[in-house]
Amino acid sequence: MSYRYAILGCGRVAGGHANAYANRDDVDTVAGAEVDAARGREFAEAHGIPTMHDDYRELLAEDAPDIVSVCTWPPLHAEMTKAAAEAGVKLVHCEKPMAVSLGECKEMVAACDANGAKLVIGHQHRWDANANQALKLVAEGAIGQLQWIYAYCGSRDLLANGTHVVDLARFLVGDSPARMVMGQIDRPEPKVDFGHEVEHAAIAHIYFENGVRAFIEQGDVAPPPYAFQLVGTAGTISLNAPEGYAMRVITAEGERRMDLPPTNAKRAEVDAILAWLDGGPPHPCRGENAVKTHEILMSVYESSRLHAAVHLPLGNDDFPLLQMIDDGDVP
Ligand SMILES: NC(=O)c1ccc[n+]([C@@H]2O[C@H](COP(=O)([O-])OP(=O)(O)OC[C@H]3O[C@@H](n4cnc5c(N)ncnc54)[C@H](O)[C@@H]3O)[C@@H](O)[C@H]2O)c1
Repeated sequence: MSYRYAILGCGRVAGGHANAYANRDDVDTVAGAEVDAARGREFAEAHGIPTMHDDYRELLAEDAPDIVSVCTWPPLHAEMTKAAAEAGVKLVHCEKPMAVSLGECKEMVAACDANGAKLVIGHQHRWDANANQALKLVAEGAIGQLQWIYAYCGSRDLLANGTHVVDLARFLVGDSPARMVMGQIDRPEPKVDFGHEVEHAAIAHIYFENGVRAFIEQGDVAPPPYAFQLVGTAGTISLNAPEGYAMRVITAEGERRMDLPPTNAKRAEVDAILAWLDGGPPHPCRGENAVKTHEILMSVYESSRLHAAVHLPLGNDDFPLLQMIDDGDVP
C-alpha cells in the first residue's frame, strides 16, 4: 500500500516531517502548501516536492493526500486539521501544541472521528531512548515505588515547550490520568509567540490517579535544559541533567550513568503512524491522548486564573490566559 503525503506550512519543523516521510518507501510526497512563495519554492526544491500551493484548501481539493502534516503555528492547527479530515485524508499529523484552546483540541478529535480520519500530535519525545529506559527501570522497581517527578524547561512557554514536558511526564507515569492541577503563571508584560499570547514563566503541580505527583517549572523561572528527575522510595533517575549526562540512576547500590545513543524520534513517530494506518497498534500520540496533555496545560492557566486547584475534567474550553488578559488580571 502506498500513501499520498502532503505538508501544510513549509517552515522549520516541516523539514523534519519531510525527511521522516521521505525515509518510507510506502509514502509518496505529492504536494506542499506555503503562503511564503519563496520559502515554498526553496522547500519544494530541497525535498523534491512536485507541487506547491499557496492555498492549503486548494491542495486538499486537488492532490487528494492520504496523510497530511500540519506544520503551521498553533492558531491554525484546528482549522487545518478539520479541513483535512473533511477533505477525506486518512491521517492528520499535526505538530504540537495540539492547538491553543482546549475547545479547539476537542473539535479536532471530533472532526477526525466524524470523518473516519486518524489524528496524531507531534510529541516525539515519547521515543527518547533514555526516557524509555527510565520507564523500564521504574517498571522493574529499580528505584522502588515512583513517588514524584520534577521536570523543567527554561526555554519558551507552556504551549511551545511545556507541552513536551507535560506529555513526557504523562508518559513516565504510564499515562495515568491527571486528577488535579495547581498552577501559577507570571506575565509581567505582554508577550506573543507562535501567533498567540504566552506567559513568561509557569509552575505546576500535577496529581496523577496512580498517586505520582509531577512538579513542573517552565520558562524564565527554570534552568535552561529540558530535564527530568524521577524520585522513588529507593532511588532517583535523572534524565538530561545540566551536569552533562543523559541519564543517571542513584540507588543504595551506588550511582550508574547510562547514556544511550539518541534515537531519531520524529522518524519513529512517523513509523508508528504508518504501522497504525496498516492496522497496527493505536499511535501513542493519537489525538484523544494528546488532548489530555493539553487539558493539563490549560488547567495550569485556569488554576492561576481562579487562584485555586483545578479538578479534572477541566470545565473551561477557552484559553484561560486570554481570559486573564481580557479581565485585566495580567497585562
Ligand atoms: N515537535 C517539535 O519538537 C517541534 C519543533 C519545532 C516546532 N514545532 C511546532 O511546529 C509548528 C510550526 O513551527 P515552526 O518553527 O516550523 O514555524 P515556522 O514559522 O518555521 O513555519 C511555519 C510555516 O507555516 C507557514 N504558513 C503560515 N500560514 C500558512 C497557511 N495558511 N498556509 C500554508 N502555510 C502557512 C509560514 O509561512 C511558515 O513557513 C509550531 O506549532 C511549533 O510549536 C514542533
